[in-house]
Amino acid sequence: MSATLQERDDEAAEILRANDRGGFSVPAAGLYPFQWNWDSAFAALGYAHLDPARAVAELETLAGAQWADGMIPHIVFHRPDEGYFPGPEVWATAESPPTSGITQPPVLAIAAARLAAAGHLSGPRLEAILEAADRWHAWFLRARQDTETGAIGVVHPWESGRDNMPDWDDALAAVSADHVRPFKRRDTGHVDAAMRPTDEQYRRYIALVEFGISVGWDQVRLCETSPFFVADPGMTGILILAERALAEAAARAGREDLAAAARQREEHLCAGFAALWSDEIGAPTTRDVRTGGRGRNVSSMSFLGLAPGLLPADRAARLAAHFDRMAERCRYMVPSYDPASDAFDEARYWRGPVWLVVNWLIAMGLAAAGDEARAERIRADSEALVLEGGFYEYYSALSGAALGGGTFTWTAAAWLDFVRGNDG
Ligand code: SER
Repeated sequence: MSATLQERDDEAAEILRANDRGGFSVPAAGLYPFQWNWDSAFAALGYAHLDPARAVAELETLAGAQWADGMIPHIVFHRPDEGYFPGPEVWATAESPPTSGITQPPVLAIAAARLAAAGHLSGPRLEAILEAADRWHAWFLRARQDTETGAIGVVHPWESGRDNMPDWDDALAAVSADHVRPFKRRDTGHVDAAMRPTDEQYRRYIALVEFGISVGWDQVRLCETSPFFVADPGMTGILILAERALAEAAARAGREDLAAAARQREEHLCAGFAALWSDEIGAPTTRDVRTGGRGRNVSSMSFLGLAPGLLPADRAARLAAHFDRMAERCRYMVPSYDPASDAFDEARYWRGPVWLVVNWLIAMGLAAAGDEARAERIRADSEALVLEGGFYEYYSALSGAALGGGTFTWTAAAWLDFVRGNDG
C-alpha cells in the first residue's frame, strides 16, 4: 500500500535533515558522501521549505568552492570518506577544500532566483551568489564551448550528471583505458551492479580523470585536447534556463550589469541549442565534437527544447510528438532514454530510469511555455512514483520500481518544491 502525501512530506523533511552535514548536504549517505554540485542546488530548494536560512547556506557553500578560473566543481570533498571512489587523492586538483576537476549542470542560479523570488535571499548575499553564477556561466563559454555550434559540451560523462546515458557510448569507447591501473569501485558496494555503469565504462571514466591531471586541470586546455568532448542539449539547455534565472534575479536586485551579461550569453546559447537539432531524429541530440557523430535517440534532456524560445514551432511540435509517444508507452514519465531504442535499459542508471530532478527541469520549461498538460503529466507521475516507492535515486519508467540509492536528498527536495510546491 502506498503512503499518504503527509507521510511523504514528513519523510522528505527527515531525509533533508539526516543528509545535512552542516552548511552542505550529501546526496545520499554512503553512496555519495560529499557535496555534489547540482544535487546541492536542488537540495537548497528543499531546505527552503524547512529552514530558508539553511537553504541559503547550501548555495553559499557551493559558490564558496568556485575555482579562480570561474568553474564551480562537481564534487567538493569537505571531509574525508573512504566509502567513495574516486576520492580527492585520485582527482589531485590541489584545491582547498579538495574538489574534483570537472563541473556539473549549472543549477545554482535557478535555485538562487527561486529563493530570491520567495523572499529568502536578497541584498549583498544574493548579489554574491549571482556574481559567482555570472563568473561560472562565462566560464562555460570559455572552457566548454563547441565553437562550431555554440553549444556547451562535456569533457567527462560525469560532467553532464547523466553518467552512462547511451549517447556518450561512442565517444567514450574511443577513450583508451589501457594504462589505467586496477582500482576498487565503491558504488557497487552500495547499489546493485545491474543499476550502475559497467566496469568498462568506469575504467574509461578514470582514464579521463587521469587525462585532466596530465594537463594540470587547465580547463581551456582540457576542452581543446580531451579525447572526450561532446556537445550536450542537457548542459546547454540547463545553462539557458540558468541564464534566464540569473537575468531575472539580477534585474530584481538592481544589478543590470549582471542581467545584461546573462541575456547576451543566453541569446548565443539558444542558437547553440538550436544547432544541436537532429533532423533525422526530430529532436536535439548530442554532438561528438571530435568526430561530428550525433546522438542516436531522444533522451530526457532533449525535452528541455520544449521551453520557450529554444526551437522554432515546427521543430518543437516534432519533439512534443516524441514526448506523447513515450507517454503512451511509459507509465511514468520521463524516461532518461527512448524506450524504443535498443540501448534502453529499464534499471541501469541513466539508460532508461526516471529521475525526479530531470522531470523538474523539463516541467519548468513546459510551464514557462504554457504547456500545462504535459507539465502536469510529469508532476503527477513524479508524485505517484514517490507515493508508491519512497525517496529513491531513480525509478523504472515502466513499473515504477524504486532503484539505486535510497533516502535521496534531491528526490526529497523535488518532492517538497516541485511535486508539492505547486509552482512548477
Ligand atoms: N555520479 C558519479 C558517481 O556515480 C559522480 O558524479 O560517482
